[in-house]
Amino acid sequence: MIMKEGNGDGMEMERIPSGIPGLDELIENGFPFPSVILVAGSTGTGKTTFCLRFLCQGVSRGERGLFFTTLSEPVHWMLRFSSQFNFMKPEYIDKDIVYVDIGDLIRSGDRDKILEAMDQKIAEIMPQRIVIDPISVVGEMLKEDYRSFLFDLANRLKHWNATTLVTGEVRPGELYPPEIAYTVDGIVLLLLNEEHGDRRKYLEVLKMRGTAHSSGRHSIDISRKEGLVVLKARF
Ligand SMILES: Nc1ncnc2c1ncn2[C@@H]1O[C@H](COP(=O)(O)OP(=O)(O)O)[C@@H](O)[C@H]1O
Ligand SMILES: [Mg+2]
Repeated sequence: MIMKEGNGDGMEMERIPSGIPGLDELIENGFPFPSVILVAGSTGTGKTTFCLRFLCQGVSRGERGLFFTTLSEPVHWMLRFSSQFNFMKPEYIDKDIVYVDIGDLIRSGDRDKILEAMDQKIAEIMPQRIVIDPISVVGEMLKEDYRSFLFDLANRLKHWNATTLVTGEVRPGELYPPEIAYTVDGIVLLLLNEEHGDRRKYLEVLKMRGTAHSSGRHSIDISRKEGLVVLKARF
């Protein structure tokens, strides 16, 4: 059930709705399918919330989701975090959305073993939507192997019929992790700004392959009901 959209030069680009209210109208109706999209931001900007909504949107369309956590957070932690959102149903987990902890695997530091295990899991589940949250942890473990790991990972992911979100944790003030930017098809930035003592959150689409995307910085809101929402006003 993937929407087909012409991009004006006769080529057809399949798209998959992001599930984030207000985002699809900024990116010609959804993420390219298949593709690998980086969701970057400092801690607390809403990356995990964004990814959960993306997976839940898939469930409502009969698509399977696969969530790789690199943090060794047990499944009950994820259930507790996600149960605050109205769009998430606990019964999705391990049925429509398979949750896989690759924390130990990453700590092994064996780049080929990590890639093989992820590939195997994807082959087993055959998801249309994949999340890797957060990818930056892998960088801390693999060190000099990280760039080649990312390159191979992105290439493998592009062979599967899925759209993958990888989240990149950055330090405040940094926009995105540079080592992954060139291997991905799209980059969505989540930003946190201190303004007059207020913390404001923004979303910006930095790149999106084959897409005439918005270049503005858009206010976002995070709420229990909707998760992450892109507001209409533009800055
Ligand atoms: N119910 C809620 N209402 C308002 N804000 C929330 C709610 N739940 C989470 N948040 C905000 O979202 C942030 C957590 O988002 P999260 O997706 O975990 O961020 P990240 O993965 O980027 O660290 C919190 O810092 C908080 O500000
Ligand atoms: Mg997170």
